Amino acid sequence: MSDFSKLVPDHVRKLGGYIPGKSLRQAQKESRVTCIKMASNETPYGPSPRAVQAMQAVLADCNLYPDNDASELRQKLAERHQVAPDQVVVTAGSSSLLGIIARALLSPGLNGVTSERSFIVYPIVTQAAGGQLITVPMQNDGFDLDGVAAAINSNTRIVFLANPNNPTGTVVTADPLDRFLAKVPQNVIVILDEAYSDFAQRFAELRGVEYSRSLGYVRQGRNVVVLRTFSKAHGLAGVRVGYGIGPAELMAYFARLRTTFSVSVPAQAAALAALEDGAHTRRAVENNAEQSQRLIDGISQLGYRAVPTWANFVYCELGEDAAAVAKRLQAEGIIIRALGPWGAPTAIRVTIGTPEQNGVFLNAFKKVMEQVAVK
Ligand SMILES: Cc1ncc(COP(=O)(O)O)c(C=O)c1O
Repeated sequence: MSDFSKLVPDHVRKLGGYIPGKSLRQAQKESRVTCIKMASNETPYGPSPRAVQAMQAVLADCNLYPDNDASELRQKLAERHQVAPDQVVVTAGSSSLLGIIARALLSPGLNGVTSERSFIVYPIVTQAAGGQLITVPMQNDGFDLDGVAAAINSNTRIVFLANPNNPTGTVVTADPLDRFLAKVPQNVIVILDEAYSDFAQRFAELRGVEYSRSLGYVRQGRNVVVLRTFSKAHGLAGVRVGYGIGPAELMAYFARLRTTFSVSVPAQAAALAALEDGAHTRRAVENNAEQSQRLIDGISQLGYRAVPTWANFVYCELGEDAAAVAKRLQAEGIIIRALGPWGAPTAIRVTIGTPEQNGVFLNAFKKVMEQVAVK
């Protein structure tokens, strides 16, 4: 038998791999109770019925390969975002595009810069491309943009900015982002990862601030790529569709690195239909804005620090072993995320659910934390 460790390059051997939130099926099997999944920032309202219908309508055509360039979807996205179609690349989720971006821009000796405690895919894609990820300490639970600017060097090619940030839910609003971009040298592409933009935009309206001018930067021809996804507010996480918008020349390189035919026929149909169902997305976004406060208030009343969120989840510091709390919550039928893998072993992230789900969570959380307190 071969010694595979000798065949696999060093940077691949050292890869950590993605640790997903526990699936409903797995959690229910373990805990023997019906569970609510509040672990992976999916919407509790499901896909748009129009998207479901659109997928059903194309299922019988699935003997044919999909349109490799997702032409119709690109055209629609370009119109919606007022850019040219060749500035849009559609991929099987935005995580997949992150991998493409890292492979296109990084190699051994080059680096990307991001914040500590940000999206867990950034280190994976950077290392898989043979690059190094520089992580800057957080400031107020979010990105320290001065620190990020100071960490950039002549070997930096990418800045990954999750906005809002996952798992802390914090945002960098438009003005500080403008000031940051003015400091970024020409050898660096700034990835504005806006997976939660629909939620953030609503919070910004309610809070009277400007969330992001990201698409404006693209229209001005800046070194910026905006990432969006259908996985969150549109409820299509299981279907895998995301996209990037950026300079046409760069996007053409990214398009060449896509896995051929990776955005399936149902995925393209679902995304097109979801774009037409604004009412469905608005319902998810409105519920999220209302319920975020209820969750934060409920957690705070029990004496724990919950960070105000701009996304569809709440980051909470427990000062207790979060993995143990997650296990107890699972026994009560709630799956949340303990943040040890993010270097926060006493913090959890809870996805905002329906009013009923949040009520069930708050009751279970109270019960579990009271047990922890008397332990
Ligand atoms: C910050 C951030 N970016 C990107 C994604 C990727 O989403 P997808 O690959 O489902 O499009 C996520 C998903 O959790 C995320 O939190």
